[in-house]
Amino acid sequence: MKKYKNFINGKWVDARSGEVFEDRNPANWNEVVGTFPKSARVDVDDAVKAARQAFEKWRLVPAPKRGDTLRKVGDIMVARKEEIAQVMTREMGKVLVETRGDVQEGIDTAYYAASEGRRLFGKTAPSELPNKFNMAIRVPVGVAGIVTPWNFPMAIPTWKIFPALLCGNTVVFKPASDTPATATMLVEILVEAGIPAGVMNIVHGGGSDVGMAIVDHPDVDLISFTGSTNVGKKISEVASKTLKRVSLELGGKNAQVVMDDADLNLALDGVLWGAFGTTGQRCTATSRLLLHEKIYDKFMSMLVERTQKLRLGDGLKETTDVGPCVNEGQRKTVHSYVEIGMKEGAKLVTGGKVASGDGLSGGWFYQPTIFADVAPTMRIAKEEIFGPVLSVIKIKSLEEGITILNDTIYGLSSSIYTTNVNYAFKAIRDVKAGITYINAPTIGAEAHMPFGGVKQTGNGHREGGWTVFDFFTEWKTVYVDYSGGLQRAQIDI
Ligand code: UN1
Repeated sequence: MKKYKNFINGKWVDARSGEVFEDRNPANWNEVVGTFPKSARVDVDDAVKAARQAFEKWRLVPAPKRGDTLRKVGDIMVARKEEIAQVMTREMGKVLVETRGDVQEGIDTAYYAASEGRRLFGKTAPSELPNKFNMAIRVPVGVAGIVTPWNFPMAIPTWKIFPALLCGNTVVFKPASDTPATATMLVEILVEAGIPAGVMNIVHGGGSDVGMAIVDHPDVDLISFTGSTNVGKKISEVASKTLKRVSLELGGKNAQVVMDDADLNLALDGVLWGAFGTTGQRCTATSRLLLHEKIYDKFMSMLVERTQKLRLGDGLKETTDVGPCVNEGQRKTVHSYVEIGMKEGAKLVTGGKVASGDGLSGGWFYQPTIFADVAPTMRIAKEEIFGPVLSVIKIKSLEEGITILNDTIYGLSSSIYTTNVNYAFKAIRDVKAGITYINAPTIGAEAHMPFGGVKQTGNGHREGGWTVFDFFTEWKTVYVDYSGGLQRAQIDI
C-alpha cells in the first residue's frame, strides 16, 4: 500500500500531526488505494506561507513562460493518461472510458491555458485628455485556495489550477478526501514539468479541517470551490469575513426535454448517458426527464428496456457501463431519495435497490433507477440526488416543459430534443441555465467554453474557456500622462 504525502514548499511531507486517512476503492471497499496525511490548520499555514513567498517570484515570470510549463504538464499528462485513468477508477469508481475522458479534459485545459499565456489580453481606450495614454492590464490576484470534489478528480482541479498558475497566482490545493491519489498525480506532474517550489502546494484532509482553514486564512486571496450548494453557502459566509474573491460551482437539477417531434432513439441515447453516466454523480447529470405526452408511453418502454440492460460493475472492466456510488454515505443518500419518491407517490418503474449479485457485494453499487409519473412538486423532482435516479415528468407543450425545467433553485445544464428549429430557439432564449444543449445530453461540456450556472448553482462566475481568466486576475488601470503638465480629468476639458 502506498503512503502518500502533502507537497508544501517544494517538499513531500507528512501532516505535522503524523495522522493519516485511508483512500479506498468504492467497487471493492476492502482494497485500500493508499494512506494520506490527515492535515490540519498548521499544515495549511505552512502551505499558505510557502505560496505567499513564492508568489513574489512567480508573478514576475512572463506569462508565455508560465504557459510553457503548462504545455509540458499537458505533454506529461498525455504520456500518463492511462495510468491516471486506472488510479482514478480505483479510487472513485467511474468506468475507464470516463476516467480517460476526465484526464483528457485536463489535457485540453493544459494546452488551452498554455496558449493563453501569449494572449491574456488587456485593453486600451483613448484618454479624454491630450498626450495621455489609458490602458487596463491583468495582474495576478495572489494566493489561490482551490477546493475540489471527487466526481471529476482531474478535470475540475485543472479547470482551476491551470488558469490560476498561468495568470501568475500561487496555489494551495485541497482535493476531495475520496480522490487524493489522482490529485497527487496532478501535483507530481506539475513538479516534473518544473513548477518552482512553493508555487503549487497540496494539503490533504477533510473539508472542515483543511478546506475551511484555507477559506478563512487571512493570507489567501481567492477561493475556487466546486461542490454542494450547502457547503458553497458556508464558504461564501466564511470567506466574506476577509472579503475574499470566491468562485462557487455548486449543485444542479438538470432536465432533458423530449418533444413529440424528436428523434427518439437519439433522445434515448442522450438520457441514458446523461442520467446514468458517472453513476449520475455529475453536477451536470440528467436528473429530470420531461417527456411530451404524445411520446410518453412509447419512450418510457424504450427507456426502461435499455436501462435494465446497463451492466453494473467494477469500472476497471471494459464491459461495465455503470460503476458504484463513491462511498457508503452517497449510496445511503440515493436510497433515502428512492424511499422519499415512493412515499410521495411516484411510480418506481425500474431499480430502487442496492445492487447485489456477482462482483457487486464488496462495493457501493446501486441499481439504475427510474420514477415515472413524477409531479414537479415532489422532492425527487426538486432536490439534487447525485446518483443513478431519474424522475420522469409528463408535459403537454414546450411552454409547460420550459416552465417545469425552470422551476428549480438550480440552473446549471439543460437539454432539449426536437427537430423543430422554433422550439430549439425558444428553449435557448427561455431556459434559465448556464448551459443549454440542443439534441445532446446535459453532460459533455468542453474545456474551452464557459462552464457554470445561474441561480443557486453558483455565484456568477464561469470556469473554462476565456472567461476563467477574469476570475484569476485583477484589472489594473494605468494612465500615462506624457504632456509634461498637470492635466485634471473632468476639469481641464
Ligand atoms: C461536474 O459534473 O461537476 O459537462 C463537471 C460535463 C463534464 C464536467 C462535469 N465535462 O458533464
